This record gives sequence, C-alpha cells and structure tokens, in this order.
Amino acid sequence: MKGRGTRDNFGPCPRRTSAGASLRSATRFANITAFITREDRPRISDADYDALLRELKALEDTHPEFDDPASPTRTVGSRPSEKFEKYEHALPMLSLGNAMNEEDLREFDARVKRQLEWETDRPVAYVAELKIDGLAVELVYENGRLTAGATRGDGAVGELITPNLRTLKTIPAELPHGAPKLVEVRGEVYMRKADFARMNEEREQEGEPVFANPRNSAAGALRQLDPQMTAKRPLRFFAYALGRKDGGEFPAHETTLTALASWGFDVNPEWRLCPDIDAAAAYFRSWVERREGLDYEIDGVVVKVNDRSLQDRLGQVSRRPRWAVAVKFPAQQSETVVRDIGVQVGRTGALTPVAKLEPVRVGGVTVSSASLHNQDEIDRLDVRVGDTVVIQRAGDVIPEVVRVIVEKRPKGAKAFSIPEAVGGKCPVCGSEAVRLPEEVAYRCVGIACPAKLVESIKHFASKTAVNIDGLGDKLVRQVVERGLVKSPADLYRLTKDDWAGLERMAEKSAENLLAALEASKNVALPKLIYGLGIRHVGETTARTLAQAYGGLDALMDAGEEALAEVGDIGPVVARSIRGFFADDENRRKIRELFDVGLRIMWEAPAKDQRFEGKTFVLTGGLSAMSRDAAKERLVMLGAKVSGSVSKKTSVVVAGADPGSKYDKARDLGVEIWDEERFLKEIGGP
Ligand code: IVH
Repeated sequence: MKGRGTRDNFGPCPRRTSAGASLRSATRFANITAFITREDRPRISDADYDALLRELKALEDTHPEFDDPASPTRTVGSRPSEKFEKYEHALPMLSLGNAMNEEDLREFDARVKRQLEWETDRPVAYVAELKIDGLAVELVYENGRLTAGATRGDGAVGELITPNLRTLKTIPAELPHGAPKLVEVRGEVYMRKADFARMNEEREQEGEPVFANPRNSAAGALRQLDPQMTAKRPLRFFAYALGRKDGGEFPAHETTLTALASWGFDVNPEWRLCPDIDAAAAYFRSWVERREGLDYEIDGVVVKVNDRSLQDRLGQVSRRPRWAVAVKFPAQQSETVVRDIGVQVGRTGALTPVAKLEPVRVGGVTVSSASLHNQDEIDRLDVRVGDTVVIQRAGDVIPEVVRVIVEKRPKGAKAFSIPEAVGGKCPVCGSEAVRLPEEVAYRCVGIACPAKLVESIKHFASKTAVNIDGLGDKLVRQVVERGLVKSPADLYRLTKDDWAGLERMAEKSAENLLAALEASKNVALPKLIYGLGIRHVGETTARTLAQAYGGLDALMDAGEEALAEVGDIGPVVARSIRGFFADDENRRKIRELFDVGLRIMWEAPAKDQRFEGKTFVLTGGLSAMSRDAAKERLVMLGAKVSGSVSKKTSVVVAGADPGSKYDKARDLGVEIWDEERFLKEIGGP
C-alpha cells in the first residue's frame, strides 16, 4: 500500500560530493533508521520498505562506522510484525563497538590497559574469532533440553522462534550430561554460500523469487510462521557465547568455546588465542585476504579479552562490552555504469534482464554483469541504461545492483521495460513474449525456441540431472545450432564423427564424450524426473515424486488431484506436472529416451526393509513431517509402530516437547533418537 511515506518523509536524498559526503551519509543513515523504526510510521509499500532497508544496508557497508547490531537491517530481515511472541532476554544480548582498521584495534588495546591500570608493555591475551554475517540468536537449555530459542531483536527483547530453531541440525535438542542445569547458548544462524547458491538456483528453476544474499535469506527463513518452511532452508548455527548459566566453570572465553564444542555445538574452528594485540592484528590482516576462501560470509573479526575476571573488571558501557571489539573489513561495494541492459532466455522461456556493466573490481574480482532478475526488480531499483549504480558482491554470490545513484543519471535516460526492449517478442526466436497473470516473468511461448532448447538440454545433461560429464554450454549450443539435436534423445544418436566435427573437439574428447553419454544411460529416477525440466519441479520435488510413484509410467499417468496429495506438492506444481505429461510431444520425447537405451536405476523404497523386526514409538512433534507421515515411513521401511513404550521397544523417536514416553524410555534405557537422527536414519524427510 503506497501512502504518505515516500522518500520525502525524511528529508531529501543528499548529494554525493566529496566534502561533507560522510556527514550527509550520516544524516541520511539516521533519517532512514528513525523512519523505519518509528512506531507511527506511515504505511509504505513493501517494495519501498525493502528499498529503504537496502539503502540503509548500502550505507552501512560503505560506512562501517554506522554498523549497529540493533539496526533494522540486522534485526528485522523483513517488515517487523506482531506474528511472533516477544521474548525478553534474561541478560541483554550486547552489541560490539567497531574498529575500522588496525589502528583502531590498537587503540582498543590501549584503552583496555588504561582501564585495567596496566603497564603499556604488559600484554593482554585475546581470543580472535571470525565475525559471522548472520543473525544472532539465544538458545535456552533447561535440564539439558532445549526449551526456548529467540532472535536477538534489539538486544533486550527478541522474537520467540523455538520451533523454527529446532529444525536446525546444528542446534542440539539435548545437551550431554555434565552441562549446566540451566544454560543459555548464544551464536549466529547463517547459511553457507554453496547452500545459498544451490537454493537460489532451485528457486529460480521453480519460478520463485531469488534472495539477495545468504543473510537476508537466513533472516527470512527464521521468521517463517511454518517451521516446515524453515526446515527446507539450509540454515546452520555457530555458537560463540553464553548467557545465563547455572553451574560450570568458565574462567576464560577459551574455556567457553571448548565447553560449547564438547556439548555438541558447531564452534567456528578458526578462533585463535592471541598472546597480545600484535597477534590479534595479524589474525585480522590474514582474514582480509582469506575471507573469500571461506564457505560462509564474515564481515570482520571479533577480538575478545580472554580472561573472564578481566572481562568483569572492564564491564560495559551503553550495551557494549569494553572487553571486546569488532574489526570490520573494507567495503565490498563499488560504483560502476550500466552500459546496457540485455535480455536472456532461460529453459522455461523466462526472459531475464541482465545489466551489462562497465567492468569494475569488487571484493577481489572483476564484475561486468549483474542479473536484474525480472521487471519487478528493474522497477524497484528504477535502473536505466547509463545509470551509475552501486554494486555489491557477497562471497560467491552473483553480483547485485544495490541502488542507483540518481544524481548521476544522464539526461534523457529512459525507464527500462522488458516488453518494450524486445518489442513483445522473444529476442532469440521471435515468438510472442507474454506475462501470465500472477507471474513475475515474461516468457517466450515459442515451442521450438533454440534458446529454450539449449537451456533445457544443458539442464538435462547437468550434474544434478542425468549427468553427462563434459557436455558443456559451448557444445550444446553447437549441436543445437547445427540442427543435430532437437531433443535430449538426439544426444545419444550422434556418432563419434558428429562430435569430432564440432569446434574445439579433438578425437580423444569425442571418445570421452561418447563414454560419458553411455555412462549416463543408467539414471536414477529422481534425477531423470528432475532432468525433464518440468516447471516448478526442482531436485527435492523430483525426489518426492520418485518416492511416491516408484516409476515413470505411474507418474506420467497421475492425475492432477492425486499429484496434489503427494508430500508438499501444491496445486500449482500438480497442474504443471500434469500439463507436462499430458503433452504428446513431451511423452514422445520421453519414449525416445528409452528407445536410445536409457535405463532407470531405482529401487522402490518399499523394498528397503531396514527396520524389519524393530518396534518404534513416536513422541513429541516433528518439524519436518507430521506424525502420521513419520509412522507411514517407518512402516514402509519394515518397522512396527506402537503407541506405548516397553522393554520391547527398540527406538523412541522424540520430537519437540516429548511427553512421558520420553521419560519412560530413558528409565528403561531404550534407545532415543531426536528428529535429526531420525531423519538421517530414514534417509531424509
Ligand atoms: S560476540 C558481548 N562473536 O555481531 C559480545 N558476536 O556486533 C557479543 N557476531 O549481535 C557478541 N560473529 O550478531 C560475537 N564471533 C562472534 C560474532 C558475533 C558475529 C555478531 C552478533 C552480534 C554482533 C555484535
């Protein structure tokens, strides 16, 4: 809903000139923060709200001195809402003061010594750690069991998201004997870059909007109302601190980290004990270079006084400990100019706009293009050819346009519209390009569009699908352009000479490719289903379908209603699957695959009787599936499922808030599995 709250509500956008730029940025920063956090904030559209959040994030990235863990960019992740219960932290979750460079870090060390009234040459020992770019949460364990989990919020009050946090495999449901009776564990929820990239790829394939970066995606996932939605995202947790604790000795930060690891938490392995500030500074320097090599994002290092009694003596001011500091990395953003906006055609015919950029170095690599995703994103950014833009790279993530510097827009720059740019036609085959209601993308309707064909063959051959080793983009383009391949089956009909006749193909490579094609003929059912490239059917859905139908014939004949009953397949996906198999052309192409020798290697799951002779009892709630579904899976795997625990019970599966069955199992010494273990044993949700 667009209301009074537009950019003008909080002052004009300051112009960027060198002198005074920082002051103006500071003003803008303060204005946006105040506006977003104002209780009586006028209503603005989601897009405007997100744009403000992004601008704030960009300001924070270019001016790390503004960084504040209570900033809306870190605490909300999306529009603040009333949907979760508030959770008051027993001990406030502190934030950290920032150091911008090594000099600031040494100044911090000097301050520590002054406060302790130490000689300047007497070294303070520190623990240096990575500052994980995720979301801080607190986990409460009572009598060894996880009883509550909450976001940091503003440090005093967060949101209670226990069921969501329980879905994380790296958050233990129970602590081993010896852990304090009451203990609060603090740390960071984050997403690995590779997991993030894979998830976004799947979302793209399934026609869902992609996330800008792992942190936003983690934030969104944690604030899902349905824990099953959280469970689907690859979230992880690093523990780094304690809140309240009742019992246990933790004389140094080092001891805390060791204890956390011994209780089964992931503790980031890169922490180092530094005998003095020189060692801590060297640690920081080394990570400026090495951060790119990590599989998760960090935005600095944290340096903490190791000795607990010294920490206590130093205390805190305005919610920041005087014994710790965050040393921030230089920004990973750059400015560049949009030379052009191109339109590419994907496998499903979606027209994807791509910004062609004046090449620029950012975060250690040269970037010359950035995906603009769809027309909505172009409209949101209002990006135009000729614009100067701020781009950002976060780790391995595709570079993104953060915002346009409107002041630098050349006169006459026109708003960009995909249909206008392509004249309503697919830029590759010239067929009509349409935007269906409820969809964000324009799509080419051409059945024989070569761009779609190239992309769908590439998809079929990809590692996660049928896996034809060595068949890359260039080769696929050539065989499609030469008219040698019109469907996946054609790949298997080409001879050695056909392959050897292509550009940059020696005889040896042609032989290798033939061998790879031969090897790919033995294909697992889920991979084949995925490789067909049915819209909305990503790897996970393909696996679900394979499990439910056990073979391709049954799936091909399944009706829409029956499909919608399977697992988490909704009506849109069911319609898409039915539509795909109802098409004669698609059926013919599948038949051809079997004619050229494709064989499905798939054992129906029912044949797997791994729990034969075992009796299971289920107690407590599971986050990944209903109790009925869990029961069904166990029975399919040969188990008996009973309602009560006895000495004959083989395993008790204990979900969230288990009842008396849990205690009985403990008393009788019956094996107990938590949800993580259960899912592992049955081979995934
Ligand atoms: S310690 C009393 N250690 O940074 C110190 N924080 O600016 C409390 N963070 O809200 C925090 N990695 O979200 C600490 N290794 C680490 C961290 C870390 C990331 C975040 C955390 C916190 C913010 C403080």
